[in-house]
Amino acid sequence: MKILSVVGARPQFVKLAPIADALRAEGHEHVIVHTGQHYDVNMSDVFFQDLGIPAPDVHLAIGSASHGRQTGAMLAAMDEVLEQHSPDWVLVYGDTNSTVAGALSAVKMGIPLAHLEAGLRSFNRKMPEEHNRVLTDHAADLCLAPTDVAMDHLRREGLAASSVLVGDVMTDVLLKVRDLVQDQAPQLPEGVHADQPYHLATLHRAENTDDPARLGAIVAALAEVEHPVVLLAHPRLRQRAGEQGITLEQGSIRVADPLPYPALIRAAMSAAGVITDSGGLQKEAFLLRVPCTTVRTETEWTETVDLGWNALAGDPARLTEVVARPAPSATSEQPYGDGHAAGRAVAAIAAAGRH
Ligand code: UD1
Repeated sequence: MKILSVVGARPQFVKLAPIADALRAEGHEHVIVHTGQHYDVNMSDVFFQDLGIPAPDVHLAIGSASHGRQTGAMLAAMDEVLEQHSPDWVLVYGDTNSTVAGALSAVKMGIPLAHLEAGLRSFNRKMPEEHNRVLTDHAADLCLAPTDVAMDHLRREGLAASSVLVGDVMTDVLLKVRDLVQDQAPQLPEGVHADQPYHLATLHRAENTDDPARLGAIVAALAEVEHPVVLLAHPRLRQRAGEQGITLEQGSIRVADPLPYPALIRAAMSAAGVITDSGGLQKEAFLLRVPCTTVRTETEWTETVDLGWNALAGDPARLTEVVARPAPSATSEQPYGDGHAAGRAVAAIAAAGRH
């Protein structure tokens, strides 16, 4: 069977790694299309290198633009790619503009579409990711859900017949990488020491970065956190802070570049807490049993909150106080699967049949 993966943004490269391994192990042909949504070396290339992902077969080099332009350029470029490779299935990975473009191009060419990480919902229609994931789930022939909660959402939207619970492929990667890096020293900015408490922070969602008053209030709150806050600055954050005249390096904040995946996991493992608006990092913190504070009013990964390891701090005025809350109690729950989700995803696609 020939499967064509469409990826473009950092978290999708992480999810692609175990899928590429599982496809290879089962002897399927795999074509990787990189849209170019993320193009900085430390947002893209290092993930392919560190996670042993084969180089993309096709690179669309679309780059940054407004949502419609970026999505439209990807869609326009995909027809030729799908004509040339004629895959049995197109596989898309989550909620980005690259995903919705890959999904639309597949259905318009009549090629079966599978959506990995299907069924996630924030129920916040102001998020571009929410439109992308709802549209993609409803376009897909096969929805590969990471959790029971995601399966419930799909059922409620009438998609039960096309949905399969496979688990979370990010768990597959995390468990492997955690074991590889645990004896290494974390890579921290000058003045931050692994044997003293520090927090690891990331911020990139449009709702947090694009409103100057909100971004200013979040940065001010991070500056007040008791221990050093290592802020791994996504390009969108640096760009918006620069445009808005907001200094990121203030108070407790130590700014650093985004880290490659193994170094990120190592830095998170030794942190006293994680502060983030990333979906992936909320789960990674939970799997490493590091308390997480999420700078949003809602989360798709509700299990992390229900089990006490994640707290929402949508209001920046409460952020410092939420970060300082008491440690949660231990849990052995595994809502994100057992580390074998990619194998199940590939089996589900194979079972769903050929083009
Ligand atoms: C995108 C996804 C988001 C995902 C995130 C992971 C959408 C709508 N959003 O958000 O769901 O959680 O990726 O990071 O698809 N930039 C660079 N270099 C890069 C990439 C981006 O400088 O390699 C800058 C560009 O100026 C761009 C900005 O960062 O305008 C934001 O990038 P964009 O692709 O719009 O979305 P993200 O914020 O990364």
